[in-house]
Amino acid sequence: MRKSILMLGLVAFMFVSCGDTKKEEVKKEVETKVEKVEVVATEVAVDTEANITAGKKLFTEKGCIACHQESMKIVGPSVKDIAAKYASEKGNMVKFLKGEAAAIVDTNPGQVAIMKANLDGFVKDLNGDQLAALASYMRSVK
Ligand code: HEC
Repeated sequence: MRKSILMLGLVAFMFVSCGDTKKEEVKKEVETKVEKVEVVATEVAVDTEANITAGKKLFTEKGCIACHQESMKIVGPSVKDIAAKYASEKGNMVKFLKGEAAAIVDTNPGQVAIMKANLDGFVKDLNGDQLAALASYMRSVK
């Protein structure tokens, strides 16, 4: 990936000598490509330390912690229980948070409705990076 960015840089440099209009065009093209690289990185988000730390921060800031403690059930299941279930069932947390996959941890309709209210209320406003970070954090709780 770094190599392709370097290549783009090189191409951009070569065009720079061809005049201003070309320069603008190439600049735009390079910017678009770099944007695309970032999007791909989001889709394959891995559980890096940075992602886990960002997710943990969001978990507090967004109020998830009010209903989910790390190792004890309060309103919702503990993060530990959520992580264990998603690992054993190979579930996709990001899909659940996007409202694209059904609940697998606690399927009691009353409980599901509480979480659904969050998904429809504010989780829908979080972006892909934030959801991936939240999932990384939850997976890291053992
Ligand atoms: C008002 C309380 C409340 C808040 C706030 C809340 N949750 Fe939940 N959550 C629940 C309840 C209740 C359940 C159990 C129902 C269920 O499993 O869907 C649950 C379940 C879950 C599950 C398991 C879903 C499954 O497959 O069963 C995940 C993952 C989850 N919450 C993540 C989050 C995240 C991330 C946030 C913050 C962005 C959050 N929750 C905020 C109450 C809450």
